[in-house]
Amino acid sequence: MAELRIENVVKTFGDFTAVDDVDLTIPDREFMVLLGPSGCGKSTLLRAIAGLEPVTDGRILIDGRDVTDASPRDRKISMVFQSYAVFPHMTVFDNIAFGLLRQKKPKEVVDTRVRHAADLLHITELLERFPNSLSGGQRQRVAVARSIAYDADVLLMDEPLSNLDALLRMEMRAELRALFTELESTVIYVTHDQVEALSMGDRIAVMNKGSLQQVDPPISVYDKPANTFVAGFIGNPPVNLIEVTVSGGVPRVDGQELSLSDTPGDGPQLLGIRSENIEITAEAPGIEAQVLVAEPLGSHNLLTCSSAGGTIKVSTHPDHKNSVGERVWLRPIPDKTLWYDPESGWGR
Ligand SMILES: Nc1ncnc2c1ncn2[C@@H]1O[C@H](COP(=O)(O)OP(=O)(O)OP(=O)(O)O)[C@@H](O)[C@H]1O
Ligand SMILES: [Mg+2]
Repeated sequence: MAELRIENVVKTFGDFTAVDDVDLTIPDREFMVLLGPSGCGKSTLLRAIAGLEPVTDGRILIDGRDVTDASPRDRKISMVFQSYAVFPHMTVFDNIAFGLLRQKKPKEVVDTRVRHAADLLHITELLERFPNSLSGGQRQRVAVARSIAYDADVLLMDEPLSNLDALLRMEMRAELRALFTELESTVIYVTHDQVEALSMGDRIAVMNKGSLQQVDPPISVYDKPANTFVAGFIGNPPVNLIEVTVSGGVPRVDGQELSLSDTPGDGPQLLGIRSENIEITAEAPGIEAQVLVAEPLGSHNLLTCSSAGGTIKVSTHPDHKNSVGERVWLRPIPDKTLWYDPESGWGR
């Protein structure tokens, strides 16, 4: 397989910038997840890498080879599209063989590759069938099988599981991850599903409005979001962002002191804290708050509280009963705090 380098890639449509100076290196065999909200430029970036859209600026290199102006065929990239296309008038076998036949591979090679790909995706018994007799999940497997049968250096997958129901999606997610580890492929996998991103990626590249926000292993993206966008996007619930005033090195919410280590400089600050990193007690000190909503979720309860610093979500033990309207005090666990600049939104 291969290393993929994306150097300062820009893609504009008229005066709209869909991909804004993206700089990203994906080492050989890495499973990189590209995550971001709808419209942030994920598919556009993937199409540019595949050579389906010319870039406005920047370079794309595969193993050091500049392919920026190469035709899609000369890039040795295979792609599974967001609206995965299987050809209804072709059998599953011919669908999987499609890219190989276009490469004019000998018949034996096509046969071996198609059967191997079908075997890996557990669809061997479907090879003679036509797509209209397959379920959505089976069709999705055909699209993935086609992409891995093709002799590619880099695999690009644009939301390959988006058309599946939740259970099938979870199954396929685990299967695909195992499959790509086995294939030792270099993969960019696009999703806007953060659970998929956290569970599948070696690293996650978080994108917003055409720009990369953070590129890190899943656990770092979860524990240390680089800015308030990532903090607000990753995790369910996302990171609480609490308005705090620091004076003389002491952080306060509405005059109530918080005992935290590592506080930033004086002035208004945003304190980021995950719901599971807050202790809840019936008395001061802490951030005084009132329970607005209490949701029992089985493994934990999720409380939504209002405070002078804003709305705060807290996860509590399922045995811990708090009722709506109750006054509580919330204490962020000191070494779990994150600090953000309220103006720029970037981490301190
Ligand atoms: N050919 C085009 N002409 C003009 N604007 C385009 C074109 N293709 C994409 N865009 C715009 O670029 C932005 C990024 O689109 P893109 O399809 O890359 O988003 P995405 O991150 O893949 O979103 P989704 O998660 O919904 O698939 C969108 O605002 C889209 O409208
Ligand atoms: Mg898309």
